[in-house]
Amino acid sequence: MSPRLLSGHEPLDTVLGGGLPANAISLIMGRPGSGKTILAQQYVFQNATPKRPVVYFSTVSEPLEKIVRFGQKLNFFDRTAIGTSVFYEDLGGTVNQHGLTGATEQISAAIKERRPGLIVIDSFKALHAFADDSAQFRRFLHELAGRLSAFPTASIWVGEYEDAEISSSAEFAVADAILELTTARSGLRAGRTLEVRKLRGSGFWSGVHAYRISADGLRLFPRLADAPLEEDYQQSGVRASSGIPALDEMLADGYWPGASTLLAGPTG
Ligand SMILES: Nc1ncnc2c1ncn2[C@@H]1O[C@H](COP(=O)(O)OP(=O)(O)O)[C@@H](O)[C@H]1O
Ligand SMILES: [Mg+2]
Repeated sequence: MSPRLLSGHEPLDTVLGGGLPANAISLIMGRPGSGKTILAQQYVFQNATPKRPVVYFSTVSEPLEKIVRFGQKLNFFDRTAIGTSVFYEDLGGTVNQHGLTGATEQISAAIKERRPGLIVIDSFKALHAFADDSAQFRRFLHELAGRLSAFPTASIWVGEYEDAEISSSAEFAVADAILELTTARSGLRAGRTLEVRKLRGSGFWSGVHAYRISADGLRLFPRLADAPLEEDYQQSGVRASSGIPALDEMLADGYWPGASTLLAGPTG
């Protein structure tokens, strides 16, 4: 199997068929507040080492100061890693002053200097505002993707993309993996779900999986439909007795071990 980028949270890595593809571009999409930045930070602290550090670029919608301030409330945020294996860089100022070309140059310079194992750009979508038209954005995208693929590093691009943008925004075609975070309302409840929308070169668990956010980060509860059965699982052919001979007789020969039986009836 090709190498994978792990989140450190096993259910998520399992849903991803073993993890995000390493040395590839992954996209995390979802509305504001869905947990994109928190999930990206989980990958950061799970994978950062002094030899292969992580560079986290913030752009205009995610100011650096906020990412670090809110990050510190997360249990996995490791202050001591900052400056040795995790480097936060502001890309917003550069893109404001020097446009998308400036952004490409800053990212390239960081790759040369730090030799990172992972690069995060949060928010990537915010960079759209600095292109005169979609053709210019495409040129920027292809230039950046080219420079990233020349060096063995994984990238996570974060964005407040809507569903419709999957077919219209060029970054979705470039991305090797797409994770979508959604909040759906049902009555008074708001349920958070994650879906793998694309994963090049690997199988993954389809459908939507519920998740929760806490100070431990994103915690996933994969739906069971895709869970592979234990290979050596054999259902016993021996029935269990209810202990009431007449009832066993009515049920032909009792209950199957490992099966569930619903007892229904009025109170009392
Ligand atoms: N300690 C926590 N416990 C529960 N939920 C939290 C905690 N910290 C953050 N959150 C939730 O995470 C959300 C922010 O996540 P964030 O990654 O910043 O979202 P995004 O980057 O998608 O806008 C908040 O709206 C809040 O609901
Ligand atoms: Mg965010």
